[in-house]
Amino acid sequence: MYNSLPDTLIIGKKVIYLPTCHSTNDIAAEIVHAGLFSEGTIVITDDQLSGRGQRGTKWVANPGENLTFSIILAPQFLEIDNQFLISQTIALGIRSYVASYLAETQVKWPNDIQVNGKKICGILIENSIQGANLKSSIVGIGLNVNQLSFENSFATSLSTETEEAFVLSDEFQKLARHIDAYYLRLRSRKQDKELRDEYLNNLYGYSNDVKFSYQERIYSGRVSAVSKQGKLSVRLSTGEEIADLGLKEIVWIKS
Ligand code: BTN
Repeated sequence: MYNSLPDTLIIGKKVIYLPTCHSTNDIAAEIVHAGLFSEGTIVITDDQLSGRGQRGTKWVANPGENLTFSIILAPQFLEIDNQFLISQTIALGIRSYVASYLAETQVKWPNDIQVNGKKICGILIENSIQGANLKSSIVGIGLNVNQLSFENSFATSLSTETEEAFVLSDEFQKLARHIDAYYLRLRSRKQDKELRDEYLNNLYGYSNDVKFSYQERIYSGRVSAVSKQGKLSVRLSTGEEIADLGLKEIVWIKS
């Protein structure tokens, strides 16, 4: 059971709790299409039956052990050209929450959250546009909390990493507070550069060489830049740069 959050300004002022549902992003989309929502509304479930991930993948999480929810935002202040800032801001908010337990937490481009090379949280953001600006943004978050075993050997959870058990509703509140603080920074529009810099500084492969595959070859190098539009540039260990990569063009090689 999850209640509306008392100590945030925007995120989770209204919380819709569904014991089970197909996908919280889909429910949130229905609410947006109905046109009646207040910004920051959260749809959260204990048991998501058809969770969706990035690139058409499925998001599977053991019922009652994790946080699976979607936040409805109305970032009408943000131009389409700046929409990647939503991804960066949300990823940073979640990273700072996870880092309160596990300092070495990183963002993996574009917006996975990882600890010790393993994914602890996935984010699926679905934007709608009106004119030159964003209209709504559905931010789906799957955070692994108490789950201890995963089919994917590159997944982890807060419990696995800390060897503690967590009260989900407490962690939901804490996480929402971190996201709220970052979203307020974005809304001010005065911290775009700081948010972009903070994102880069917390990015996997920015401060150290990593391996990735590109056009069926394996390379070693590090992230050199992320453009306003969210495209990735990498500098190979040979010194050459590959610029403006999109989501489907590069695959990180896990080590
Ligand atoms: C990813 O592939 O990394 C993104 C996973 C996003 C999963 C979350 S769980 C809550 C929300 N509802 C969905 O159907 N997906 C997102």
